[in-house]
Amino acid sequence: MPENDLLSTLNELLGRAVGAAFGEQYGDIDPILRPAQNPKFGDYQANLAMALAKQVKQKPREVAEAIVAKLREDTEADRLFETIDIAGPGFINLRLTAEALDHYAAAMLDDDRLGVPAGPAETVVVDYSGPNVAKEMHVGHLRSSVIGDAIARVLTFQGYDVIRQNHLGDWGTQFGMLIEYLADTGWTPGSAQEAGATDTLIGDLNRLYREAKQKFDADADFADRSRKRVVALQAGDAATVELWRDLVAESKHHFNAVYERLGVSLTDRDVRGESFYNDLLPGVIEGLDTAGLLEESQGAAVVFLEGYQDREGEPLPLIVRKGDGGYLYATTDLAAARYRVDELGARRVIYVTDARQSQHFAMVFATLRKAGWADDAIRLDHVAFGTVLGPDRKPFKTRSGDTVRLADLLDEAERRAEAVLAEKNTELSANERQEIAHVVGIGALKYADLSNDRIKDYVFDWDRMLAFDGNTAPYLQNAYVRIRSIFRKGQRDADHVRSETISVLQPTERALVLKLLQWPTTVAAVADSLEPHRLCTFLYELASAYHQFYEQCPVLSADEVTMRESRLALCELVARTLRQGLDLLGIDVVEQM
Ligand code: ARG
Repeated sequence: MPENDLLSTLNELLGRAVGAAFGEQYGDIDPILRPAQNPKFGDYQANLAMALAKQVKQKPREVAEAIVAKLREDTEADRLFETIDIAGPGFINLRLTAEALDHYAAAMLDDDRLGVPAGPAETVVVDYSGPNVAKEMHVGHLRSSVIGDAIARVLTFQGYDVIRQNHLGDWGTQFGMLIEYLADTGWTPGSAQEAGATDTLIGDLNRLYREAKQKFDADADFADRSRKRVVALQAGDAATVELWRDLVAESKHHFNAVYERLGVSLTDRDVRGESFYNDLLPGVIEGLDTAGLLEESQGAAVVFLEGYQDREGEPLPLIVRKGDGGYLYATTDLAAARYRVDELGARRVIYVTDARQSQHFAMVFATLRKAGWADDAIRLDHVAFGTVLGPDRKPFKTRSGDTVRLADLLDEAERRAEAVLAEKNTELSANERQEIAHVVGIGALKYADLSNDRIKDYVFDWDRMLAFDGNTAPYLQNAYVRIRSIFRKGQRDADHVRSETISVLQPTERALVLKLLQWPTTVAAVADSLEPHRLCTFLYELASAYHQFYEQCPVLSADEVTMRESRLALCELVARTLRQGLDLLGIDVVEQM
């Protein structure tokens, strides 16, 4: 068994058999391998016979028989498969030998990357979080931050050169009113500290926004001054820019505090807000003009794209400059994409925002293609997600109908986790419990967000996310803790388990190893589909398989030494996979709970 990766070996063997049976030109065909649904029929199913049958104009069953005959002649396949069968119209069922399972489980344990091949060192930009300056982050930003971070972690693990971009909403006409209001209160420009100005108006961004808006609506003179402020800001007036900087600094201070608590790996280095692209916007318009894409519509500069219509069925253009000369969100995104491709060298750009922006991104991507700013080799992905709902299935709000502040949500997650832990384990000291409650509470919150198919809305439910059974973070963290406690109890060092002792005998051991061996394909599938919930499903199934193994197979009290050593090694392999998997989701583990 030369390859240490089961799936590549299976692919190779099937390709070889197809080549031998039908000629080399078919050797590269996708064998359409799937883990078998029912262990009765085998471990893997190859479904290529149906597709190949059309190409070679034979019956699928005959095609399957020809492939299987060649597989049976192959000595390598002979060592790998215990049985090779054909079912139904031409499904090829493969059952692996115990020797093969031992080999691949051992290879996985010996590999720091747990069998995940290192991918290309290509540059990928992940644009996520993107909160708006001078506004508190809310639960909608939770999703972008948590999903985006998981994607950035998975791609980094795969070997990509990941550049995180926090596209802060730090530019626009609303700053006129905010700055003017701040100036009215006698705020001294330049006094926002990195340390934060929590007790002041600027430290309470919701209040600042609300009061400024009220005054703007009620006071014509103030509204007028606010508009002049916008002009002053755009013209680079020093005092105005300084006030704007204070607002940005104070907001970033808020955001960083949330990232830190959430374990989201964004820092100031990743911030490239809308303001950064301000000088590049005229160039976008010029470029579109040169490319022959710029048209005029009701005074605005627009790009017409095929396939987009408004509610009346009229062609819907992408507006890039308003009649008054102002630029738009889309203009900035065009500039940002060009910057990412040309300056950062991105081969793939990933945008993580809610699904309501789907049309925006579809139109921006279409424009980038048409203008030749992103050729077909550059992959552009909009990672869209649904809304967080309250128990009434309406968008999640506080009881008084306000948007939920993220900081309050994090407090509550920790408080509730602490209460759950206090009930479960009375031996923890208050300090320990608090630390564990942080990891469990935040983990549960993030996992609830990640484990749902992102495109769907989901109902926010504290009890469910903190439950110790079901597809939750506490369930996975607890599975990890149980393994750790086996090692503690047996006074064994987890770093010294030996891969060569692995010997798969029982059906639950077999099922566990087969699950473990799906880890590399799971990571690859998440990196491609950008769907973290697939990673969650895998971890949940792994923990469940471990649970069943643990019920059936005594570890420390196993009858024979060889059996005990093998099971300890399997336990450790599960622990490492759980820890690595949770880490890719941005969730920590604890040693006890
Ligand atoms: N600030 C935006 C919002 O709150 C998100 C930015 C997303 N990124 C982008 N390149 N448009 O909705």
